[in-house]
Amino acid sequence: MKNIEIDGLNFELLIKEEDILCSIKLLSQKLNDSYSGEWPVILVVLNGAIFFAGELLKHIDEFVEFSCVKVHSYDGKVSSGNIIIDYIPCCDIIKNKKVLLIEDIVDTGLTLDFLTKELKKRGAKDVECVTLLFKPHKYNFPNLPKYIGFNIRDEFVVGYGMDLNQKGRGLKNIYKNINN
Ligand code: IMP
Repeated sequence: MKNIEIDGLNFELLIKEEDILCSIKLLSQKLNDSYSGEWPVILVVLNGAIFFAGELLKHIDEFVEFSCVKVHSYDGKVSSGNIIIDYIPCCDIIKNKKVLLIEDIVDTGLTLDFLTKELKKRGAKDVECVTLLFKPHKYNFPNLPKYIGFNIRDEFVVGYGMDLNQKGRGLKNIYKNINN
């Protein structure tokens, strides 16, 4: 598989599409087993999780209620450390409900921690997370995401929803930066 370049940075293949799809199927089986008959409200964390969520939801056995939440903190390859809410659903959707966040990638955990607290403040009973990728060596919080597709090293990735400067989201495979 060819290396790719985005905004002057070079990337090589990390996870190919068939392995991503296989992992998503396994995750959906775990979710179906865990939540059978009692699904939480699903919140897709935009923009990155849109591809992952689309594939995951195809394999969910029941009708589930879902909405989106949109925050941002990244500038290029670096997190600003400051989370800004672009969109969060109205309280009726989450009040007294259990919530499952669908994330593309959990890195330091700041976004997940922020969203968990914010949703609980707005009345959510409980917040859990399913993430396609997890960077265990960068994660700074005690509670791990409950469902994880792949653990990866401390490397910057693009593809399957993840971007560099809004580029690369549509790539079918996941690529890692090889500049440093
Ligand atoms: P955290 O708050 O540090 O866990 O970062 C979460 C968000 O940062 C993710 O939802 C992504 O939007 C972005 N992010 C973190 N690592 C990467 C990466 O390697 N590639 C692309 N986006 C990333």
